[in-house]
Amino acid sequence: MPGPRLFEPLTIDGLTLANRIVIAPMCQYSAVDGCMTDWHLIHLGQLALSGAGLLTIEAAAVVPEGRITYADVGLYDAATQAAMGRTLDGIRRHSDMPVGVQLAHAGRKASTDLPWHGGATIAPSSPNGWQTVAPSPLGFGADDTPPVALDRDGLAALRDAFAAAAKRAAELELDLVQLHGAHGYLLHQFLSPLSNRRDDAYGGSLENRMRFPLEVFDAVRAAFPAGKPVTMRVSGTDWVEGGWTIDQTVAFAQALAARGCSAIHVSSGGLDARQAIPVGPGYQVPLARAVKQAVGIPVVAVGLITEPDHAEAIVGTGDADLVAVARTILYDPHWPWHAAAALGGTVVAPNQYLRSQPRQYKDLLQPPRQR
Ligand SMILES: Cc1cc2nc3c(=O)[nH]c(=O)nc-3n(C[C@H](O)[C@H](O)[C@H](O)COP(=O)(O)O)c2cc1C
Repeated sequence: MPGPRLFEPLTIDGLTLANRIVIAPMCQYSAVDGCMTDWHLIHLGQLALSGAGLLTIEAAAVVPEGRITYADVGLYDAATQAAMGRTLDGIRRHSDMPVGVQLAHAGRKASTDLPWHGGATIAPSSPNGWQTVAPSPLGFGADDTPPVALDRDGLAALRDAFAAAAKRAAELELDLVQLHGAHGYLLHQFLSPLSNRRDDAYGGSLENRMRFPLEVFDAVRAAFPAGKPVTMRVSGTDWVEGGWTIDQTVAFAQALAARGCSAIHVSSGGLDARQAIPVGPGYQVPLARAVKQAVGIPVVAVGLITEPDHAEAIVGTGDADLVAVARTILYDPHWPWHAAAALGGTVVAPNQYLRSQPRQYKDLLQPPRQR
C-alpha cells in the first residue's frame, strides 16, 4: 500500500525536501534595526525541529524603507546579514531542515506600528515612521500620507536591492529565495490595477503591470546560485471587483515559469481594504489548483490547512505539490509529527526527542542524517 503523499520527498531544482510540508514565512516584528534577535533563534529554532520539509524565514526587507514595521527583519547591509547568519548558525547546529528566506518590500504598506500596538500607519514625521514608495501615489488607507511614485531610477535601485539581498542570501548559504509578490506589498502593488495607475511602461496593460515584478525576478534569479530555487509568492486574487484576478495570476505564473521560476506559492488578498474573503478551511486551494493546471512547476497551497487528512487530499489529488502552514504550526509546533502519526508517515526529529514517540507510533520519528 502506498504511503502518504504528504510525506513523499520532492525535488525543486537542486533542492530535495523530505516531505511536502512548508513552513510559511511569518513576520515576528522582533528585530532591531533590521537585525534578527534571540527571539528569531528561539522561534525559528523550534520550527526547525518540527519535521517539516522547508522552513521559510519571514519577509526580510531589501531596504530599510521596505519594512512593514520598524521591527521587521532586513537583509540589506552587513549588520542585518550577520544577524541572520548568527540565527542560521544556531539552527543548523541542530537541524538539517532546508531554510529559505522571503525577500520583500512593503511599498505603500510600509511604516506601520507593531500588530500588538494596533498596527496603524506611522506618519513620516513621527518616530519610527518614514515616507513610503509605491507604483502610484495612492495610499493603502484613506488617511495615510500618500506614497511617492517610484521613478525609473527608483525602480532600478529597488531591483538592484532585491538582487543584492539575494546575493547576501547566497552568502548565508540559504537553500531557497522566495519573492514576496503577494498580500498587497510592493510587487503585488505593481500587478494590481487598483494600486498601479501608471501610464508608463510599468502600468496599464497586464504585460506592463507584470514588467517590474518580472525584472525583479530576473535580477534575483541571476544573483542566486543556479540550481538553488527562486520562487514567487502571489496573491491569486484581490477579492475586489476590478482588481487582480486568478486569470491574471495564471498569466503571471506562466511568465515566471518561462523565466526559470522554481515554484509558485499561491496565497490571496491584502491589497485593498474592500476585500471580501470567503475564509474557511482551504479557502485558497482553488486558486492554487488553477495555477497548478496551467504551469509545469511545483505549486504550494496555503491558508487554513489545519487537518492532516485535508493536507494529504490537497497533494494527493494534485491540487498542489506542497502545502504551507503558518498559524497551524505556531499553534502546534510539532504539527508535522502529528500529521505523520495520523497518516502513517515519518519525520526527522532530534536525537534528544526520539524517546518521546508513543508506542503505537514507534517508527514515526527518525534520527537526523549523520553529518
Ligand atoms: C504571525 C504571522 C506573520 C505572517 N507574516 C508573513 C510574512 O512575513 N510573509 C508572508 O508572505 N505571509 C505572512 N503571513 C501569512 C502566512 O504566511 C500565511 O499565508 C497565512 O497565515 C495563511 O496560512 P495559515 O492559515 O496556515 O496561517 C503571516 C501570518 C502570520 C499568522
